[in-house]
Amino acid sequence: MLKGKNVLLAVTGSIAAYKTAFFVRLLVKEGAEVQVIMTNSAKDFITPLTLSTLSKRPVIIEPFDPETGEWSNHVELGRWADVMVVAPASANTLSKMAAGIADNFVTTCYLAAKCPVFFAPAMDLDMFYHPSVQKNIDILQSYGNLLISPQEGELASGLCGAGRMEEPDQIIQVLSDYFAEAKELHGKKILVTAGPTYEPIDPVRFIGNYSSGKMGFSLAEVLARKGADVTLVTGPTVLDTPARIKNRIDVHTAVQMAEVCYDLARDSDVVVMAAAVADYAPVSIAKSKIKKSEEVTSLELKKNPDILAELGKRKKKGQILAGFALETDNEKENAFAKLQNKNLDLIVLNSLKDAGAGFNTDTNKVNVLFKNGEIKEFPLKDKTLVAGDIAAIIKDLLDS
Ligand code: CTP
Repeated sequence: MLKGKNVLLAVTGSIAAYKTAFFVRLLVKEGAEVQVIMTNSAKDFITPLTLSTLSKRPVIIEPFDPETGEWSNHVELGRWADVMVVAPASANTLSKMAAGIADNFVTTCYLAAKCPVFFAPAMDLDMFYHPSVQKNIDILQSYGNLLISPQEGELASGLCGAGRMEEPDQIIQVLSDYFAEAKELHGKKILVTAGPTYEPIDPVRFIGNYSSGKMGFSLAEVLARKGADVTLVTGPTVLDTPARIKNRIDVHTAVQMAEVCYDLARDSDVVVMAAAVADYAPVSIAKSKIKKSEEVTSLELKKNPDILAELGKRKKKGQILAGFALETDNEKENAFAKLQNKNLDLIVLNSLKDAGAGFNTDTNKVNVLFKNGEIKEFPLKDKTLVAGDIAAIIKDLLDS
């Protein structure tokens, strides 16, 4: 998987830098082109000579070399790389990366990199668990950078705990898995909907639901990681766009969502309706705020379009349609009925009877029902992992 790949390896100041000699050796053995860049403090832990000999390229530490008069272009390198790996990533470099500080060649290249960036922290356990380091790791992940978690074990300080940089052969495995996964859904167009819809009553009020959008956003992210060309259509949510999602369309109402989905579905290999679409909307929207004195005690409602049912009618050959069902009673029967009525290939069922499942949680417990009557049951998991299970099912259906 790494053959012919351009790997930009950034080494920063940590004792774990000694492991990069083995890492570079393994990368070269795999057939990767390796360009090592270092911070000045990394030189105290491993010599540039060692790494340039193993990588067969001069190591770059400063953008300008006064001896040769040569200038190393961080933007060019950032574009050259198929992947950047910051290993070991010291607490100092992590904080600069998170803050966007570009005061050395490593951090400048990081900001210029267009490719996926992996980072493998290495530091003492108390440093690793310091809230500022943990926050920086969260920030970096929220930007789409990929964490290679440190391992537990004996540290250079003599203490025991988390902070050991992952072993070079394991990092190679992580990179290989990444490139293999990115091919899984390459060339597939996938439409994912997420979040609630808001149906306005007047300028300050709406009918809505508790959907946070987390499930749909996680799914969109995992599908994109597998190489799919994902368009995310979302109702109102506070969530940031996942790093790999290039196409996001924000809508408010079910009617707006329907228009966008009918258009995009014509060209989609897969449609996943994770949105919690409001079934009804007020017949009329008051132009001004409805005052208490008006004594309005009931709202006249009209039915919203059932987007998924309509997509089921328009379904083209080979297209996969996936729905979600949130049920409180007769869960499986209701979900099967929806699957059949809406002409779906699968439906993801979550029951509000299961603790930790459903709206506004970070976890979910789902059953996936298929049109042949098969049911796959999954335990309670983080929504990102549930998304992985559903994405794997979609891939299998596309392959079959
Ligand atoms: N859905 C939709 N348009 C609607 C309502 C729902 O596309 N107007 C989709 C949802 O995105 C979900 C699936 O249909 O994928 C099932 O939604 P759910 O609300 O559970 O079912 P409903 O068909 O609305 O039935 P009910 O509310 O009566 O359970």
